[in-house]
Amino acid sequence: MGSFFGWEPLQSKASKQILSVKIMSAQTEKNVYCFVSGKNWKLSLAEIASYLDARGIKFEVSEFSRSFFTIKTETALDASVIDDLGGTLKITQVAAFVPTKRITDAFLEEDKQVKKQLKFDLPLDALADKMPRAASGKAVFGVSVYWADPFFKPAARAAQRFLGSALKDELKEQDKKARFMGFPRDRQNPQLTPVEVLKQGLLENHAEILMCIGKTETAVGTTMAVHNPFEFQKRDLDKPAQRKIFGISPRVSRIMVNLTRCTPEKVFLDPFCGVGNILQEALLANARVIGVDINRWCVEAAKRNLSWLTREYSLADADYAVVQGDARDLRRKIREVDCVATEPDLGPALREVPTEPYAEKIVSSLKPLFEDFLVSAHGVMWAGSYLAVVTPYIKTRSGKAVTMNIGKMAQSVGFKAVAPFREVAFVGDAADFPLRDLTSFVDVDERHKIGREISIFQKPQ
Ligand SMILES: C[S@@+](CC[C@H](N)C(=O)[O-])C[C@H]1O[C@@H](n2cnc3c(N)ncnc32)[C@H](O)[C@@H]1O
Repeated sequence: MGSFFGWEPLQSKASKQILSVKIMSAQTEKNVYCFVSGKNWKLSLAEIASYLDARGIKFEVSEFSRSFFTIKTETALDASVIDDLGGTLKITQVAAFVPTKRITDAFLEEDKQVKKQLKFDLPLDALADKMPRAASGKAVFGVSVYWADPFFKPAARAAQRFLGSALKDELKEQDKKARFMGFPRDRQNPQLTPVEVLKQGLLENHAEILMCIGKTETAVGTTMAVHNPFEFQKRDLDKPAQRKIFGISPRVSRIMVNLTRCTPEKVFLDPFCGVGNILQEALLANARVIGVDINRWCVEAAKRNLSWLTREYSLADADYAVVQGDARDLRRKIREVDCVATEPDLGPALREVPTEPYAEKIVSSLKPLFEDFLVSAHGVMWAGSYLAVVTPYIKTRSGKAVTMNIGKMAQSVGFKAVAPFREVAFVGDAADFPLRDLTSFVDVDERHKIGREISIFQKPQ
């Protein structure tokens, strides 16, 4: 796919090394960002793609990896975007790119000449300009380095120290007293956590500098937003009605809400709402929210939680309703909706990893519920609207995971499987993105026997 923005510097192979710094410093005046991914990078990237697409923001991905994505957007992004995303840890505004070859020459090959030159290549003055002078004492700043390929890992710590000390010199020249923040001894990767960034006030002071070592280009910039784990924790642990066993985290809930392209004012439905974790996130996305559950206790619990949320987050205009009902017969209770995200029953809680035949049995016993739900959901969704649904991903003793293959069922009901990456413009080396047709995402913890497979469908126009 071509570039929307006529932005091709990352691909001009022959001239890249000579021209890239010059070209990119002009280009990076525009809206280029590095998104540092949460632990499930595919899900994080799918969420970002759906989020931007839902808001009509054109974008291109020029780098993707397990740890970060480099994305150029047509319009500037606000720092508050991070609060809307469940799967992004940091967003950095890129100030300049340096060819990655220079980073590897300097820090893997220990080429002193290149190292010297690097001080001129890095946008030290621009980064230091942004940092305010400390009212008293020294201003604290930190540097975090991420890399796209494990090959770069040995270069990362040296690059982190180098950038920190070069920046300290630059700050001194600007007459700004500064302290370069170190890491605890046992820190595996030279990266500050979002909590450290928040607690040290680095965000307000534009004082966390990120270096993202990509496959061909290395981005350097200032962190403009970090994920606030305290807010997500609060929604998880402080809500009044808890039900530990079926809990889906606020992070994954928010990702699901975004996968349905939920934007403010849309009517959002979770027909197996439980205590309302997904509903909470949809309400925070300013949707008009409807929850359905067959269990009366859950209905009351979800209501209590949403009422708590509206107070806690001062959501004066919150519009929500939770009703007792059957997800297999939604027409009876509700009218058309714009988005559906839900986690139906995933089977019994398992004490140990099951055998494959037992896992198959669990999945077969759940199929009728999912089939009936799909028919029922199709009946209340507007044409063009999206559904994100969790199905069980059961680990078994043979090592093979047993899943439901909901795609076939959904298709026979009239849904179209959605591949969130299919329409995305991957440019430069990222054009070889291998997962274009992916329509489902697995999210599973080491310690859990049952994971989640999240699939996305659309009711065709
Ligand atoms: C896995 S839990 C959902 C958990 C939920 N995401 C939460 O945050 O609490 C599944 C929920 O579906 C409800 N349920 C089961 N069968 C149902 C049906 N036919 N219609 C509506 N709700 C149903 C259960 O009562 C349970 O609360």
